[in-house]
Amino acid sequence: MAEDLHTIEGTKEDQYKALIPQIKALLEGEPDIIANMANTVAALKQQFNWLWVGFYIVRGDELVLGPFQGPIACTRIKKGKGVCGTSWADQKTLIVPDVEQFPGHIACSSLSKSEIVIPIIRNNEVVGVLDVDSVAYDDFDETDRTYLQELVDSLVIPQTFAN
Ligand code: SME
Repeated sequence: MAEDLHTIEGTKEDQYKALIPQIKALLEGEPDIIANMANTVAALKQQFNWLWVGFYIVRGDELVLGPFQGPIACTRIKKGKGVCGTSWADQKTLIVPDVEQFPGHIACSSLSKSEIVIPIIRNNEVVGVLDVDSVAYDDFDETDRTYLQELVDSLVIPQTFAN
């Protein structure tokens, strides 16, 4: 495994292009999904320094907090609730430029101004979501959608996890 993450400056696209291969190399050969989620969010936080980046995992009819970096967060989110629960219910990525304008947004931190949530879909079912929050308004766009989607798609989810 690489000893240090090599962070770079540059455009958002440059940053993702430098970061994603490093994350893939870091995860390669490690089957434990929690360990891999933990290193994924740590690497994203180290490169982008967003307010909060983390996973929520589907457990029955709720999302339960998984590995994350940032301030403490809500532990459980019902399907259809907040940005995360809506992303799960609709099975689609949500980009929210101003969280106060999103009906039902769940404010885990008052510092969060914009948010992107990417569902992790396996066998047509959402097994979790990747959630990123920023202190800046309108901080997420199609570049984030593309590269975060690539990252989420590359995660190897064990059968027992996808319940
Ligand atoms: N804002 C999210 C809740 C999770 S926190 O942002 C970490 C939502 O509305 O679902």
